[in-house]
Amino acid sequence: MSDVVVLKIGGAVLGEEAGALDVVGALHDSGHSLVVVHGGGPLATEWSGRLGLETRFVRGLRVTDAQTRDVALATLTGLTNTRLVAALVARGVPAVGLSGVDGGMLRAEREDAELGLVGRVTLVDSGLLEELLDAGRVPVVAPAALDKKDGEILNVNGDGAAGALAASLGARLLVFVTDVPGVRSKDGKVIASLDTARAKTLVDDGTIEGGMVPKVEACLLAASAGCRAAIVAARGADAIEKLLTGEQVGTVFEAAA
Ligand SMILES: Nc1ncnc2c1ncn2[C@@H]1O[C@H](COP(=O)(O)OP(=O)(O)OP(=O)(O)O)[C@@H](O)[C@H]1O
Ligand SMILES: [Mg+2]
Repeated sequence: MSDVVVLKIGGAVLGEEAGALDVVGALHDSGHSLVVVHGGGPLATEWSGRLGLETRFVRGLRVTDAQTRDVALATLTGLTNTRLVAALVARGVPAVGLSGVDGGMLRAEREDAELGLVGRVTLVDSGLLEELLDAGRVPVVAPAALDKKDGEILNVNGDGAAGALAASLGARLLVFVTDVPGVRSKDGKVIASLDTARAKTLVDDGTIEGGMVPKVEACLLAASAGCRAAIVAARGADAIEKLLTGEQVGTVFEAAA
């Protein structure tokens, strides 16, 4: 296991991410290697609306024609990524913005015909990230990938990108910072720890739905690759430091032995 922490900042909490970015600064100062992955769905939806494009979701994934893909790409790799890098640099963090297209980092297969230009990450080349980490940089990755077959740029879910990168880097910890304090059970209580069997049951009975589904799938993937994974609220961003010391915060998926 390498001493890398992968942090995924949800588009749902952009605007409230200051605490999480402070934590990135603190962890960087104390010598941790960090990779930040971000979402940005709400901003893409807002800009699509401005351009008169309709937004539809199937199983938490955006239905994406070429125009929608272009708007998502422009807002994610342009606005959201640059804003996060700027906020980190302002904190003295040597952040570098890139997308999953850079260095051929993320390759994907089309999810299904219904979703259009949406990919599922199937191949990761983390070489460029490792070079940046070795140079003391903090990569900030926007979710985009290249179609393995035809090289088309595909929209990929930020959660899936973060999970695949964490697994490929052999990260010790993957943390999803989002707008809820963890995975909730039917009665609304946060579930402290989840394993594959229980997670599958909760997805099948609809307790876990929408944007939480790709997050849970990414946590399970990372955990099976030996990485501890957790879902926490943006407001309690100090949770990340607690997680590093093995404390229980939000919903934790323990690394497979
Ligand atoms: N069982 C559950 N427990 C908690 N949240 C759930 C559950 N099932 C579905 N959700 C939804 O998942 C949402 C979080 O996923 P969402 O995709 O909206 O955020 P994000 O991934 O942080 O942002 P983005 O997709 O823009 O990067 C919650 O706000 C909640 O509505
Ligand atoms: Mg999401």
